[in-house]
Amino acid sequence: MILEAQQVHYTYSDGTNALNGIDLAIPKGQFAILLGPNGSGKTTLFKVITGLLKPGRGAVLVDGRPIREYSKEELYRKVGFVFQDPNDQLFAPTVGEDVAFGPVNLKLDPAEVARRVKAALEMVGIPHLINKPIHYLSFGQKKRAAIAGVLAMKPDIIILDEPTAGLDPAGAREIMRLLVKLNKEERITMFMATHDVDLVPLYADRVFILFDGRILLAGSPHEVFNQKELVRNAHLRLPRVAHLGEILFKKDNLVIDKLPLTIGEARRMVISAVKGEGENYAR
Ligand SMILES: Nc1ncnc2c1ncn2[C@@H]1O[C@H](COP(=O)(O)OP(=O)(O)O)[C@@H](O)[C@H]1O
Ligand SMILES: [Mg+2]
Repeated sequence: MILEAQQVHYTYSDGTNALNGIDLAIPKGQFAILLGPNGSGKTTLFKVITGLLKPGRGAVLVDGRPIREYSKEELYRKVGFVFQDPNDQLFAPTVGEDVAFGPVNLKLDPAEVARRVKAALEMVGIPHLINKPIHYLSFGQKKRAAIAGVLAMKPDIIILDEPTAGLDPAGAREIMRLLVKLNKEERITMFMATHDVDLVPLYADRVFILFDGRILLAGSPHEVFNQKELVRNAHLRLPRVAHLGEILFKKDNLVIDKLPLTIGEARRMVISAVKGEGENYAR
């Protein structure tokens, strides 16, 4: 497992119990999604996993080793964290300087720093913005710059807090495509938080539903969304397409073996049901 949480608890100084015994494990190479409504503890969990907050109880393991045994620098090299708001992450005057910050801190030689900055900006599709002042960037470009800064550290796993928040639909889709590419081509394990249910079946190998600081459900998107009651108890809904499948099954007696979660699955299901019915009529 590249990342594990074992009975992680976290209480803020005002007494809020934000995490109430989190257990999870993510194998190397997976695309995992932490799905939960606002206030469920997603950001707190990510801050604990990345070492920004110390758990009150429990342990976080990266590559099988507790993160409290890692130096800050070792942990930064393994686990990248992309904040929800890139304005909280970016601080250098220009894109290039910002992306260089981590590698410079690792005391890499200048040629290697330059190589990493160039490679990271190419991976996120903004090599032409290297000398651009940060404050001229669009929000989507800032997200990419923040991801490039993390990539320049060559992490094994990237944790992203609501990476599509604040983006328009096209921008959100582009960021998700970028994350899939980094997962597939660079083999970086991805663990992202979202409250957008419809993203999950399109991208996740594994999903964890977080509610009230507890993992209510974990599994593949099909395993999780088949537990309709629990999903709704977590103040979430089914993916739109699954809801359509549910109505076709209940109200229109359409025969389906499992809830469709994506448009592609729904399309196959409807075509096969319609064809099946056609044959019945023919007989
Ligand atoms: N700095 C803080 N001090 C006190 N309570 C906090 C603080 N940050 C978050 N919380 C509380 O912790 C809980 C989880 O918040 P958070 O981790 O931000 O959830 P999410 O990211 O899922 O929206 C919420 O009840 C929130 O009000
Ligand atoms: Mg949050």
